[in-house]
This record gives sequence, C-alpha cells and structure tokens, in this order.
Amino acid sequence: MALPDSTLITHIGELVTNDDGEGAFAARTDAALVIAEGQVAWTGPASRAPAADAMVDAGGRAVLPGFVDSHAHLVFAGERSAEFAARMAGRPYQAGGILTTVAATRAATDDALRANLARLAAEMARQGTTTLECKSGYGLTVADEARGLALAAEVTPEVTYLGAHVVPPEFKADPDGYVDLVRGPMLAACAPHARWIDVFCETGAFGAEAAAAILAAGRAAGLGARIHANQLGPGPGIRVAAEAGAASADHCTYLTGADVDALVSARVVATLLPGAEFGTRHPYPDARRLLDAGATVALATDCNPGSSYTSSMPFCIALAVRDMGMTTQEAVWSATAGGAAALRREDVGRLGVGARADLILLDAPSHVYLAYRPGVPQIAAVWQEGRLVAGSVT
Ligand code: NIG
Ligand code: FE
Repeated sequence: MALPDSTLITHIGELVTNDDGEGAFAARTDAALVIAEGQVAWTGPASRAPAADAMVDAGGRAVLPGFVDSHAHLVFAGERSAEFAARMAGRPYQAGGILTTVAATRAATDDALRANLARLAAEMARQGTTTLECKSGYGLTVADEARGLALAAEVTPEVTYLGAHVVPPEFKADPDGYVDLVRGPMLAACAPHARWIDVFCETGAFGAEAAAAILAAGRAAGLGARIHANQLGPGPGIRVAAEAGAASADHCTYLTGADVDALVSARVVATLLPGAEFGTRHPYPDARRLLDAGATVALATDCNPGSSYTSSMPFCIALAVRDMGMTTQEAVWSATAGGAAALRREDVGRLGVGARADLILLDAPSHVYLAYRPGVPQIAAVWQEGRLVAGSVT
C-alpha cells in the first residue's frame, strides 16, 4: 500500500546512508529510498521498492545525505576582496581584518543583513547544504550581537554566540573589560537567541584564560561550547576545548601530539575548514593524522568575508581529498555525519529510516565525483525535510 504523501526515489546508482552503526561511511548500490512526512521511511534494493504517491527516477545517479555545514559566519555586511588579493600577493592574514567587517556590519540595517544572510543560505542550499550553523561575531556590542543572533535564528536553529571574536576598538585599552561584557550582560542578552557559544582563541584575539572563562559562563547559561582553535599557529585552544567539554574544536591547523590526544580522549570533534587555509595560504590541516589517531573529523566551509568566502561544501571535500589525506569516503562522511556530530545532531548527516529527509541527488554516479570533478556544479536536486528546495528532478 502506498504511504501517504510519499515519494519514492528509485534507480539510485549509489545511495550513501552513513547508517551502518559503525560511525563510518556506508553506501549501497542499485538502491531506492522512500520519503514520507519529512523523514526517510524506507531504504533498500531498487528491485524491492514499495509503491509511493510520487516517483523520481534517479537514472543511476548518486543520492547522499544533505551536507551539514557546522561552521559559518553569515551575519555581516561589506566585503574584503582587496584583502584577499593582497594575501595572494604575499601579505599575511591578520585577525584584525575582522574589524573592517565589524564596522560595516554595525552600520548596516536589519534588512541589509537579512538579505545577505538569505542570499548566502540560498547559495548553500543550491550546493547541497541542508543544515547550517551560523555565528554572530561582527557586532561586538550587546545590541549588535543580539541582533545578529536573532537574524541568524531566522534561517537556522544552529545559532552560535561569538561575542568573543576579537576585542572591538572601543575596548582596546581594556580587553579584560570586554571579556567581562561578553560573559556578563552580552551573554544575558544573547543566550535566549543561541544554542552555542564560541570563542576565537588565538594570538590577537582571546587567550586561554579568557576563553575558558567565557565558555564556562556560556555553559552556565545553557549554551553548548565550541571554539576557534589553533588556526594561525600552535596554542592552548585545544586544551581549553577539551577542558570545557566543547562539542567541537574548529580549524585545528597547528596541532601538537598532545592536542591530538586531547581531542580523541575528550571526544571533541575536530572540525577542519580548508577554505580558510585556501584563503590565507596557511598549510592545510592534517586530517590523516587526526583520523589515524581515532579523532572524529568534520568538514565545514567557515564561510565569512575575510578568511574563507566560500559557501561550497563540494569545494571543501575536494580540498580535503586532494590535500589533507582524506579518502573520498572519509571526506563525504565528514561533510555530512561529521558535521552532524559537531552539532550533536542525530537526525541529519545520514539516510537511515527515521532520519530527516535531507538529501542530495548528484548529477554523477558516485560520491567520488565531488572530488574527481572539482569546481563543476553537480548538485541536481536538494530536499530538506522531504521538500524539494533546490534544483529539479527531471
Ligand atoms: O574562522 N578565525 C576567526 N574568524 C574567522 C575569520 C573571520 C574574518 O576574517 O572575518 C575564521 O577564519
Ligand atoms: Fe570561523
């Protein structure tokens, strides 16, 4: 009997499910999948597919879970292409560039910020992202941070308070005063809009002591902890993440052996953001070393106007496979189930029965093509909670 309002996708050449119970990439060939009520209702061999209200013929193409982009900074105004061009001409990346975007963001209207956010979220959807995390961090006043978070919450439930991005100019002479603001009144105004708290722990941003204090205050206010750590050089960020019980430590570009051990033993997801290394000419993080040590690795875009102005998870997958020692299977797992782990989500990043029907129909026969054909648009259609949100099925 047909399921009510169900859709059968059949003749799937490769169905990536990530659902073997082992926490690893899993796929089946010659498969079919049924969507009903926004969830995956059935998967199995195409030859045994049940009837449904509607049918999509994948024609041998691949179906994957929608990408889970667990790290993005989408609430901003302005752009910094001149900075990028200067870096490509040999200038180093500096955390201070963030303040250019802070000035533009403070000066922007709600509607301008909302329009930019909607543009980037739609850009992500077209490239297969069905879950995105979004940070504040370009407001850096109580009102501007709360405004950024309220706007982010209009496009995603995965909202992160990043008042501790850099110290704003008005607190230049009193950085401790800014830390007190971030973990006091600013946190009180922001916590109702957010699920997570984040700190940029780096030379030129926040040190270990401030980062730990801010994450502890956030946790006391009911927020989960995440951190920008070890992006521009070695430092204490990973240790702070492990001690704070953070869900994820992001960047992980410069790690010691002790950092790798801490990530593994504290079960902190290592979220790698190769768009940032591409955009700053830093070396790519060593995913192979992390995977071989037993760490859980996620891949995300870090989409922001400074260090990594890409919204493309396929681009990040291609970089991870080409330059970070990941297999194609590992990279796709990290961009889907890995991102879900970084956000502590069980309903996305996989396509087992009961998972949210967030999926990608690829214009290619297997996931390998995401890295094999870099830079080529290959996302034929995207469903979010069972609804076609991008592309078409013809
Ligand atoms: O993740 N590292 C800190 N924040 C961003 C960069 C933000 C910017 O340059 O505007 C990042 O790379
Ligand atoms: Fe970031």
